[in-house]
Amino acid sequence: MKHKHLLSLLSLVLAVSCSTPQQPQPFSVIPMPNDVQLSEGSFNIVGARITCDSKMDEASLKAVENFASSIKTVTGRNCNGRGDGNIVFTVNPELGKEEYCLQVGTDSVKIQASDFGGFFYAIQTIRQMLPAEVYGSRKAKAGWLLPCATIKDSPRFAYRGLHLDPCRHFWSIEETKRIIDIAATYKLNRFHWHLTEDQGWRMEVKKYPKLSEIGAWRKGTCIGKDFESNDGIRYGGFYTQEEMKEIVAYAADRNITIIPEIDLPGHMVAALAAYPELGCTGGPYEVWTRWGISEDVLCVGKEETFTFIQNVLTEMMDIFPSEYIHIGGDECPKVRWENCPACQARIKELGLKAHGTISAEQELQCYVTSRIQKFLNDHGRKMIGWDEILEGDLAEGATVMSWRGTKGGIEAANRGFNVIMTPSNLVYLDYYQSAERDKEPLCIGGQIPVEKLYSYEPYEGMTPGTESHILGVQGNLWTEYITSETFLEYMLLPRMCALSEIQWCNSDRKDFNRFNTSLDHTFKMLDVMGYAYGKHLRGLIGLPGSEQPARNEEELKKYLEENKFPW
Ligand code: ACM
Ligand code: ZN
Repeated sequence: MKHKHLLSLLSLVLAVSCSTPQQPQPFSVIPMPNDVQLSEGSFNIVGARITCDSKMDEASLKAVENFASSIKTVTGRNCNGRGDGNIVFTVNPELGKEEYCLQVGTDSVKIQASDFGGFFYAIQTIRQMLPAEVYGSRKAKAGWLLPCATIKDSPRFAYRGLHLDPCRHFWSIEETKRIIDIAATYKLNRFHWHLTEDQGWRMEVKKYPKLSEIGAWRKGTCIGKDFESNDGIRYGGFYTQEEMKEIVAYAADRNITIIPEIDLPGHMVAALAAYPELGCTGGPYEVWTRWGISEDVLCVGKEETFTFIQNVLTEMMDIFPSEYIHIGGDECPKVRWENCPACQARIKELGLKAHGTISAEQELQCYVTSRIQKFLNDHGRKMIGWDEILEGDLAEGATVMSWRGTKGGIEAANRGFNVIMTPSNLVYLDYYQSAERDKEPLCIGGQIPVEKLYSYEPYEGMTPGTESHILGVQGNLWTEYITSETFLEYMLLPRMCALSEIQWCNSDRKDFNRFNTSLDHTFKMLDVMGYAYGKHLRGLIGLPGSEQPARNEEELKKYLEENKFPW
């Protein structure tokens, strides 16, 4: 009797679970693919078998292998088959770079691409179409259904960048990989690594060991915005060449190219602390403990400075195979050069003259830029510089990173240069995320809520016909005030997700309401992976653990009237 009772209970449970068939989760892929046709039905990946085209390259096969292994981890079922599978990866040479076609039917999933980028991005799309638990590292209870769909997708921009500053605050190799992982998930493909600064030199250079012995360490760090203060805690770190090569390979497996930057001739105090003979005054110099722009820069009157730069670049090119090398060029005061006999002799020797608003010293920076550009070109690389390199002559083939708003980028395109747009007022990820500064951790300033970042249209204001000079868009994550990994991720996410739609989606595919709804799924993914993120769009402000509810409209108005922020 008892037994019978149990059986009927079991059949009731079965009947209930059968009468509520599982549904795939709503389509919430970010960046939104450029062509999606959803249809009825779903495909269950549990028990599915993968087959790969024999023409696929090693990198693509490895990406599929990683995907299969993550599916096995979360479902407990192996799907990496040979022969007649029902998840079929095929090379289609007619598709473009990074393009993919994904057809999910009830009985099969077909993936086509012509290159590694295309296969890798098809997999990223599939992962986001599955329950967020697919990003976990344990077996999970979930309905492993993919909604039926036909997706044809390729990026709007070839260059989809994220910049990180490991100098003002140092980020471990592990954290750097986490940032690369999440960037790859959202289909970014360039990681601009800002490796040198006044406050710390982070790249091991075998020829100049003092760069890591002395230049990588500062005596302390200023407290908050009091630049004269010092916490007295020795701070620093550097990446060995092996570690940087490891990052290059790690990123390449995720279709990300690392673009290294050596910022010159300004932002060089850490190098000067190690090798004071490279400065105009000869020092002594100390690795900076404060933020801002130093008047001490490289002395470019001395030939040994060029030897130094070229030797550093030579080691850099050995580590980083990227087509582009970033040489900085921003914020270089000229006062030392104005008073330096060697720099003045160089100006005289080159016959550099002031003209219009351009000083002779500015022309000297142009000379440095074009000499380094030639060196890079002679070694088969291209140069990127911040938009200050536009001040004066700039040699053909340079690429300009427009950070002081969009005007530098617009001017560069008008003058025939390629451009990467990184306007500080729109895509700087170190700026505040809300107006409620009392609830935010201390930031550098500015205010770029997710909505504002999302609204950026890179072609706005451009001269018609010059748009093809825009290679892409990049978000910059400077870290003067960012003191922990949690804080770093909070500043990055979900703004980087908004950035990814600017970079990937055709402008008519962008829709903030749809994006915001899709973030529900992204937040689940980030929770599974353990990333910190801002919850401003869900009414909460502050670092994880100390979030506070946002003010209502009336309270916010009053708060802003009482607190006049400079910008
Ligand atoms: C910059 O933000 N100084 C390029
Ligand atoms: Zn000098």
